[in-house]
Amino acid sequence: MTFSSSIDAEESYDTIQVSRIGGSLGAVISGVDPSDDLTDQQFSEIHEALLRHEVIFFRNVAMSAEAQLELAARWGQPSIYPVQALMGATEPQLSVIRDDADSLPSADNWHTDVTWIEAPPKVALLQAMVVPPYGGDTLWCSITSAYDALSAPMRAMIDGLELHHSNYPQFCTAMAEKSGSWDLVPLLREAYPGVNHPLVRTHPETGRRALYLATNFHQCVVGLNEAESTALLDFLMRHITQPRFHCRWSWAEGDLAIWDERSTNHRGVSDHYPEVREVRRCTVDGDRPYFDPSVPYRPKAPMVPKAAY
Ligand SMILES: [Fe+2]
Repeated sequence: MTFSSSIDAEESYDTIQVSRIGGSLGAVISGVDPSDDLTDQQFSEIHEALLRHEVIFFRNVAMSAEAQLELAARWGQPSIYPVQALMGATEPQLSVIRDDADSLPSADNWHTDVTWIEAPPKVALLQAMVVPPYGGDTLWCSITSAYDALSAPMRAMIDGLELHHSNYPQFCTAMAEKSGSWDLVPLLREAYPGVNHPLVRTHPETGRRALYLATNFHQCVVGLNEAESTALLDFLMRHITQPRFHCRWSWAEGDLAIWDERSTNHRGVSDHYPEVREVRRCTVDGDRPYFDPSVPYRPKAPMVPKAAY
């Protein structure tokens, strides 16, 4: 397999402007309206910016639900969210995620989406529809930068390990609480019984290595005893909480974020509760995660700062 090396070259675009918002990840894109019918060159440059910056933002996009799904389709097959599939959906549709006094925020933990299926999504698109008067920001973490910041012996130790991912119990119970339907729990458990994924995943387009973690979805390290697994996961989760790997977005109505699910974790800060916050999300089907030790290791950039927990 060959990987794109263009993201290692100096950044240059003809149809868009790109402004970084963080040293590890995140950039604002301007000069193009993503709700328009994008030319191949515009899309190609947006995709390159996404691979390079891992999460990209467009401000104040007037985009219909249909246009959001059409934009998602430029990356591949828009996903049918597993919960919606269980409720009978046969076509991709947007998930409307509404937090209010009676529907508590449920995404305030570091994760990447839906890792409890065999082929989790590769890209997500989220638009802010109702913005609270304060709070409700979203954070992203570069799990490629976090991997690069580990020592060589630590990287060697964890390369090739697998994590078991499951929707039970945390996701199932959160969904039941949010929807009020506890009948969902056995349905979700039966339809999606869990899956093992590599702890270090090779990005299928860039070849970079990423710590493929997801709070509440990953349950244990395959092959380690409970004490070893807990200690390793505690360390790695503490490692990725370092703000130097993060960027933060304070939403305005109409903002659109697009992120690479394979190279990032994210979390929705729940400090707007009980104020209303409503976002509209869709994802694009991805491939089964893998680790390929034959792909030469290419860190994103030398990591100078030392860890400070
Ligand atoms: Fe999420």
